[in-house]
Amino acid sequence: MKLLLVGANGTIGSAVYKEMNNDVEIITASRTNSDVEVDITSTASISRMFEQVGHVDAIASAAGAAHFGYVEEMTPKQNLIAVDSKLLGQINLVLLGLKYIHNNGSITLTTGILMDDPIEKAASAAMANGGIRAFVKSAAIEMPRGIRINHVSPGMLEDSIEKYGPLFQGFEPVASKRVGLAFRKSILGAQTGQSYNVY
Ligand SMILES: NC(=O)c1ccc[n+]([C@@H]2O[C@H](COP(=O)([O-])OP(=O)(O)OC[C@H]3O[C@@H](n4cnc5c(N)ncnc54)[C@H](OP(=O)(O)O)[C@@H]3O)[C@@H](O)[C@H]2O)c1
Repeated sequence: MKLLLVGANGTIGSAVYKEMNNDVEIITASRTNSDVEVDITSTASISRMFEQVGHVDAIASAAGAAHFGYVEEMTPKQNLIAVDSKLLGQINLVLLGLKYIHNNGSITLTTGILMDDPIEKAASAAMANGGIRAFVKSAAIEMPRGIRINHVSPGMLEDSIEKYGPLFQGFEPVASKRVGLAFRKSILGAQTGQSYNVY
């Protein structure tokens, strides 16, 4: 089984890699230091990646940026960071990648707890998360050829405490293993249209 893992070098991507590496062949993708280069904010770059990689059984994305800042101060341009990257970047992986997925394959995208349990400065990220959740639920009913689509919504990972801890007061950090397992359920399980909340 061949898995294309976008954002494989990141905190979540590394958790997915660790969880899946023993069982599947993983092709890593990101802007730097991966098997194949991709910038998900560019449709041309996504298309080039799929031409290079060819057919796979599963696509998993753990990539996607967002601007963090107060709504009152956020510019439309800053808000577009999440739109172009986390929202459309991941959705374009689906739109452009679908024809490269074998029958009965799967797609797994990443959202996050901020759409359900808000903190300050996170409205743009929450917007992208909610958009992905709605897209996944709706797209699942018309995926062709037995292809499944889900998203994993992690809480703040234990591995991210240093980076995000001060922003997430009162949140219980989640083990990377649990996040990796949620991806595993999506990739190797049978469900579709699911939100796997790891809170
Ligand atoms: N960490 C957490 O606690 C947590 C919790 C919930 C949700 N999330 C969400 O999960 C996603 C990943 O988070 P993370 O903490 O794992 O991030 P991270 O450690 O910064 O890793 C991001 C990964 O994505 C790649 N990437 C970034 N922008 C890209 C682009 N435009 N095109 C292709 N690859 C790109 C990065 O590699 P390159 O820079 O080389 O491209 C890296 O491999 C984010 O959307 C984040 O909001 C994170």
